[in-house]
Amino acid sequence: MLKQLEELERRRAAAKLGGGEKRIAAQHAKGRLTARERLDILLDPGSFEELDMYVEHNCTDFGMADQVIPGDGVVTGSGTINGRLVFVFSQDFTVFGGSLSERHAQKICKIMDMAMKVGAPVIGLNDSGGARIQEGVASLGGYAEVFQRNVLASGVVPQISLIMGPCAGGAVYSPAMTDFIFMVKDSSYMFVTGPDVVKTVTNEVVTQEELGGAITHSTKSGVADLALEDDIDALLRTRQFFDFLPLNNREDAPFRPTSDDPLRIDDSLDTLIPASATKPYDMHELIQKVADDGEFFELQPGHAGNIIIGFARIEGHTVGIVANQPMVLAGCLDIAASKKAGRFVRFCDAFNIPIVTFVDVPGFLPGVAQEYGGIIKHGAKLLFAYAEATVPKITVITRKAYGGAYDVMASKHLRGDLNYAWPTAEIAVMGAKGAVEIIFRQDIGDKDKIAARTAEYEARFANPFVAASKGFIDEVIMPHSTRRRIALGLRKLRTKTLENPWKKHDNIPL
Ligand code: HXC
Repeated sequence: MLKQLEELERRRAAAKLGGGEKRIAAQHAKGRLTARERLDILLDPGSFEELDMYVEHNCTDFGMADQVIPGDGVVTGSGTINGRLVFVFSQDFTVFGGSLSERHAQKICKIMDMAMKVGAPVIGLNDSGGARIQEGVASLGGYAEVFQRNVLASGVVPQISLIMGPCAGGAVYSPAMTDFIFMVKDSSYMFVTGPDVVKTVTNEVVTQEELGGAITHSTKSGVADLALEDDIDALLRTRQFFDFLPLNNREDAPFRPTSDDPLRIDDSLDTLIPASATKPYDMHELIQKVADDGEFFELQPGHAGNIIIGFARIEGHTVGIVANQPMVLAGCLDIAASKKAGRFVRFCDAFNIPIVTFVDVPGFLPGVAQEYGGIIKHGAKLLFAYAEATVPKITVITRKAYGGAYDVMASKHLRGDLNYAWPTAEIAVMGAKGAVEIIFRQDIGDKDKIAARTAEYEARFANPFVAASKGFIDEVIMPHSTRRRIALGLRKLRTKTLENPWKKHDNIPL
């Protein structure tokens, strides 16, 4: 008996060594942790239960029969984060560069299938040279099996991807189909084709970091939700983030009790809006003053800064926050902002997370680049997302709500449940100056007349009361009472039920 136990210990130790000491040292030298070290940080101590530790590849080509490493380049299993179940895979770069073989893919698929059966999220730690070159099409098939599961799991269990090393070629599409992507600065990259191919095809010279590093994807492309400092930072932030999410689409997000009074008044909000309508202010201030303990987990802070998205809690319950940011592009909606917020709204709706929207939007961003880039279709994404969402929706208009953007930003007409406005709100087709220059075009040369007409238009429309008189705004509230109003609103809406008509699926403008 003892002999068999010793054999098990020996096999376990061999699997845990992955590609061996030398390759582990190389991984550390790059400032990266190993697959198992990463899981130790991500999961609660002692909670990891590994599966398929002894799985081996089935390739015999290119001398592979002589190179067999138990586990085959990916560590899979389940564990807990602050006591809640999660399924995980962690690619082991020390074993064939973490490349994906048929068996490696089967291991990932197994834990994804289990996660779906029991209703638990999947977190993937990606660090891989891509398709296992020696296996050819078997590896491509493996990727497609993972892709298929990503799609079936979408909207059923949350899926989070951490990119902690290379992720190139078609391999990028599995993370792309998950809900959130966190990348590690200076150590991870994602691209469909690398710098060498880019140079050959387009003659552009670019580094890996410039083409697909964490900064590129968290600022320019918007592919990544966060760029984190190093492996440890990425893993600890993921633990924190996980706490905002429900385990699946039938459960509520975890309740986190707080001593922050939900009825708390914040008088400083009464002076948040500057006297001049064109002067910006930081919308983060409002979000922090409304959220429990001022805590806001912002996503994509470096991309499309004209809209802010992220999670906070009100009275211990997770809410998704969407807010125009007057400090960037005056808070206009553009292509990037619409895509960023549209996808976030859909995540919240899929996972029963109420949406709180703060509005200060002068409209859609004008310009040839926006029109050629398809602002019509991309702007429609956010409109579509808000309109189809059935979760509780509370909207607070702080200042401008002009034109189509007024409609888009969770207006009453898109089934907003509680639509509030501050006394400083201006709800109109457009700003007074623009409006007057159109309807009184004949007077444009006469400064005094235009000024008088503008003042007249402002007096008539630069307030929330026209909208309130029509019932489009449920109540004009004091800024200092915003947290209280939202908390009480969310309490009321906790039992909300609303269903969209039956359909196979919708056809969101992609
Ligand atoms: C098999 C691989 C591998 C791969 C790396 N290795 N990538 N083995 N298949 N795809 C092995 C290396 O042979 C090496 O083995 C070890 O992993 C570490 O690799 P290094 O090159 O020494 O590491 P590094 O210098 O850090 O470079 C990492 C790398 C590079 C940039 C990822 O290895 C690389 O370019 N790999 C090939 C990437 C690639 O073309 N993949 C296919 C993409 S197409 P030893 O034994 O020396 O330690 C694709 C299609 C997916 O993925 C389609 C899905 C639909």
